[in-house]
Amino acid sequence: DKIIAIVPAAGVGSRMQADRPKQYLEIQGKTVLEHSLNVLLDYPPIAKVIVAVSKDDPYVESLSFLHREEIELVHGGDSRAESVFNGLKQIQDAENTWVLVHDAARPCLTHQDLDQLIRVVDEHGAILAVPVVETVKKMTIDRRILATEDRSYFWLAQTPQFFRADLLKKGLAFALERNLQVTDDASAMELIGFQPHLVTGRRDNIKITHPEDLALAEFYLAKKLT
Ligand code: C5P
Repeated sequence: DKIIAIVPAAGVGSRMQADRPKQYLEIQGKTVLEHSLNVLLDYPPIAKVIVAVSKDDPYVESLSFLHREEIELVHGGDSRAESVFNGLKQIQDAENTWVLVHDAARPCLTHQDLDQLIRVVDEHGAILAVPVVETVKKMTIDRRILATEDRSYFWLAQTPQFFRADLLKKGLAFALERNLQVTDDASAMELIGFQPHLVTGRRDNIKITHPEDLALAEFYLAKKLT
């Protein structure tokens, strides 16, 4: 079976407070999106990368790295789930295709992470994740502590997330039809009864979200090259 990567890159990144969406900020002369795509494009098991970009994205046209044979561009939607779903619609032979969904905003992914993840070939799917190290508080509506959770049961979901294309499509369709908010792909699978595996990832596979994350990503990327 072949592996196709889908990269949702149609967000506006409002928490970044930058002049452009976070995937277009530059680290060492390359956009965050290009860093993320290069890891996927250089990984031999991946046959193709589908990138979801916003319909009125003014940057796409001028970014030469997006216009190459192994990349297919699709329009994103109003939510991450819709953007991924639009990517899945391009896949012909979904029963025999596995998809790796990876956020454009995670440029520090490594091939070792991918090796671990794609080893889990199971219809439930699998995601990279890390165990929570902090103590986890559940809050009341007025921001007081309602309860302290047992942190040994909590993991932080990362991407890539790895699923059979037809099953993920079914899960996301289920969520989108009912207007259920899903912030990752595994939650769509959970909604239709699957229990994706947690594969231990690395803490440096950060998602660029806040301004201070950019310097951290730069540090990790520099380390990766040496
Ligand atoms: O907002 P968040 O950080 O969860 O976004 C995760 C990824 O989903 C980002 O790479 C973003 O570009 C993408 N996204 C998208 N379409 C949207 C919203 C977010 O492709 N409508």
